[in-house]
Amino acid sequence: MTCQEVYVAPKPPSPIAEGLLSLWHLDPNVAFLNHGSFGATPRKVLDAQTKWRERFEAQPIEMLDRQGGELLSQARKAVGEFVGSRGDDLAFVANATCGINAVLRSIDIRPGDELLTTNHVYNGVRQTFRYIAGCTGAKYIELEIPIPIHSEEQVINAIAEAITDRTRILVIDHITSDTAIIFPVKRIVDLCHKNNVEVLVDGAHAPGMIDLNISEIAPTYYAANLHKWVCAPKGAAFLWVTPEHQNQIHPNTISHFLNEGFVEEFKWQATRDITAWLSVPNAIEYLADIGWHKIKQHNHQLATWAQAMLSERWDVTATTPLDGSMLGSMTSLPLPANAKAYKEPRLFMRHLYVDHKIEVPINDWQGQWLIRPSCQIYNLASEYERLADAVITLCESAGR
Ligand SMILES: Cc1ncc(COP(=O)(O)O)c(C=O)c1O
Repeated sequence: MTCQEVYVAPKPPSPIAEGLLSLWHLDPNVAFLNHGSFGATPRKVLDAQTKWRERFEAQPIEMLDRQGGELLSQARKAVGEFVGSRGDDLAFVANATCGINAVLRSIDIRPGDELLTTNHVYNGVRQTFRYIAGCTGAKYIELEIPIPIHSEEQVINAIAEAITDRTRILVIDHITSDTAIIFPVKRIVDLCHKNNVEVLVDGAHAPGMIDLNISEIAPTYYAANLHKWVCAPKGAAFLWVTPEHQNQIHPNTISHFLNEGFVEEFKWQATRDITAWLSVPNAIEYLADIGWHKIKQHNHQLATWAQAMLSERWDVTATTPLDGSMLGSMTSLPLPANAKAYKEPRLFMRHLYVDHKIEVPINDWQGQWLIRPSCQIYNLASEYERLADAVITLCESAGR
């Protein structure tokens, strides 16, 4: 926003329909503002998974051994249509972390190679990177991108400067975890291609939160969760790999079909419950009945409003511009300074949960305590107003 433009505070959107919370099993006594951590699955989608389970348990060999491959292929096709990919360019994995591990453990990394990411990386991915660097003698580099972020250029320029001729791979978040920023991944991927650097996009939060077309982004690898914003059962995620690299990438669990190709290897990751994966098309269809566009728009508008309202109430600066341009369905803000009287972010979270019946994550990000409310169609504007009051009450009582 330029200084000539007048900032107009947004208004919260109207709920898409009344009583949406009852479509989930969520406890109505708690304001659940943490869809982002593990997602939450609607009752009907869990019912669909139960039906899958019953079919499997009725005929375990027929379903897993003889029909499993074809059923997974149909489910991959439905996911592919949702995320802009061919079904066979993606493979189901249990979570985004698994997908990222599969890539980093498969590719050839040599001593002295640079493994690049930013200080917004998800901590589990950071640990994976550190482990791989330790095993291979590569150098792990975490580029600092300070908050608040003012523009896409800030991110692009920092990454452009950090890439060297030793950079082996960049891992970049599509939507960052603690800081809830949408990074301009298409531009970052183009930059990597120009520099001959492989790029793995951590899209843990992207499917179902924002419009996603992986073929248009065209990274080398894209790992994402379906149990977060697609609301599929837990254990549903995928890894997308560009066709030229598929033969190099192996699942974390090597089994019968080693070196028989990407689809074959990932299709059989040893005996496991595949019903979360098979239920993904049920989740996509169920929420399509409400309307994916409506859902994303509602959640984004609620997040943009909540960001402005909370920034004003707490007199803090959110991680992204107030116009919502780098925001999806989550927002991230520093807590007022005296929140630190609670010593541990988890203790503050616990007070919010126990004393105020609000579930919301708080993390120590580079010394700043960031709170990250999520917005989903079952949430109401009044829950964020309760959060604003509760944080102020807790901070005031800390001072006493
Ligand atoms: C950006 C990001 N990457 C990876 C993950 C890990 O997700 P999972 O535990 O499902 O692998 C998360 C979880 O919140 C995340 O926010």
